[in-house]
Amino acid sequence: MNITIVGTGYVGLVTGACFAEMGNSVTCVDVDAAKIDRLNNGQIPIFEPGLKPIVASNSREGRLRFTTDLPAAMKEAKVYMIAVGTPPDEDGSADLKHVLAVARTIGQNLESYAVIVDKSTVPVGTADRVRGAIAVELEKRGVKIPFDVVSNPEFLKEGAAVEDFMRPDRIVVGADTPEAADIMRRLYADFTRNHDRIIVMGVRDAEMTKYAANAMLATKISFMNEIAALCDRLDVDAEKVRQGIGSDSRIGYSFIYPGCGYGGSCFPKDVTALVRMAEECDLDPLLLQAVHRRNERQKHVLFEKIVARFGADLSGLTFGVWGLAFKPGTDDLREAPSVVLLHELIGAGARILAYDPEAMEAARSQLPRAWFENGQLQLVLHQYAALEGIDALVLVTEWKPFRHPDFSAVKKMMKQPVIFDGRNQYEPAVMRENGFDYFGIGRRG
Ligand code: UDX
Repeated sequence: MNITIVGTGYVGLVTGACFAEMGNSVTCVDVDAAKIDRLNNGQIPIFEPGLKPIVASNSREGRLRFTTDLPAAMKEAKVYMIAVGTPPDEDGSADLKHVLAVARTIGQNLESYAVIVDKSTVPVGTADRVRGAIAVELEKRGVKIPFDVVSNPEFLKEGAAVEDFMRPDRIVVGADTPEAADIMRRLYADFTRNHDRIIVMGVRDAEMTKYAANAMLATKISFMNEIAALCDRLDVDAEKVRQGIGSDSRIGYSFIYPGCGYGGSCFPKDVTALVRMAEECDLDPLLLQAVHRRNERQKHVLFEKIVARFGADLSGLTFGVWGLAFKPGTDDLREAPSVVLLHELIGAGARILAYDPEAMEAARSQLPRAWFENGQLQLVLHQYAALEGIDALVLVTEWKPFRHPDFSAVKKMMKQPVIFDGRNQYEPAVMRENGFDYFGIGRRG
């Protein structure tokens, strides 16, 4: 099938590469000419395992092309996917200007029946607006061309995006006509060969499904973070509680790990957008607001523990930070708890040595320049280099290489043997045996 994908961000690029890998002819379009140039030269703008090789091989074989010219890319496609950004507005709702601009361009250039697919996470009712925007342009042209708008939200996780796309748990298709549903079924047939994972529903149902999935996962995490805060006060081990409740299959083990807060491009933005949607319906989204507020609080939890141990004035102290990305397997710093922590530590006068296996470049370009110029933040080339003479180590992202360090070497390098573990990677008892002053999240220190 001929597919045109507009937007070469996370979702668009992974979707394009994976459809091409399945033998489709894919054109990826983006307004950012520099990005398209880089993609045409085989450079991938994001770190995502497995993506680079399939972009390279499919580009070489001509199944995957990159261009800035949407009208020119519209000659043969049967399916148009809109995967452009929906950044949060000032009030937290998703800004649809890019989505609607793409819809208008499609309306200005459409020549025969096509399915227009919303891939971006967009509020309920967006497909109707996309349909309206296309219809207006067709009317201006005085032509009658049939088309359908489909909602096909993406559930891929950063760091496992290619794998998630190739072997999805489910494919949600919101389609209001049998014709559109049929095209989507054919498009995804190869991804669901062994048993049908396609769930067809109404367009609005699919739009809500994406938000509900992310909000449910965010709720589980915030719930567990609140229980962990209570565990800290009541001398209870949250890790035991996690095991105890996770064993109930109705609850399950996943997404109940307490930590220093969830980040990334989805959970914070989607929970806030859902709150806005509810408020616009004159509802009081009490639970969703609390999920968001608990997470905002949670991003301060490490700093609070540090202040409780060292006092509010951290001048003269050096902290090692392990992990900057919002989670392992990515170089993404969006909404990362590490950024909040760095602001707080540096604000309190501390000096930082930080290391992340993938996010160093992102950190260098996105964090305040003054921190580097004033020597408040130094990015080091190895995890052990972040330990040299430090007063405490703070683990923020649970990258695998941080899991089993040589604790005696770690202790020797540090000035004081103090560890704040934002992802509960270490056993308090083991840390005590190794002579560390240890602080986890909801763990007995
Ligand atoms: C998420 C959804 O999982 C995915 O389906 C959706 O399409 C996009 O949003 P992603 O943002 O890539 O994916 O990351 P995910 O692996 O879900 O983790 C989100 C955040 O939650 C991370 O900051 C992670 O550290 C945190 N988290 C996760 C916890 O704090 N505790 C947990 O138990 C699980």
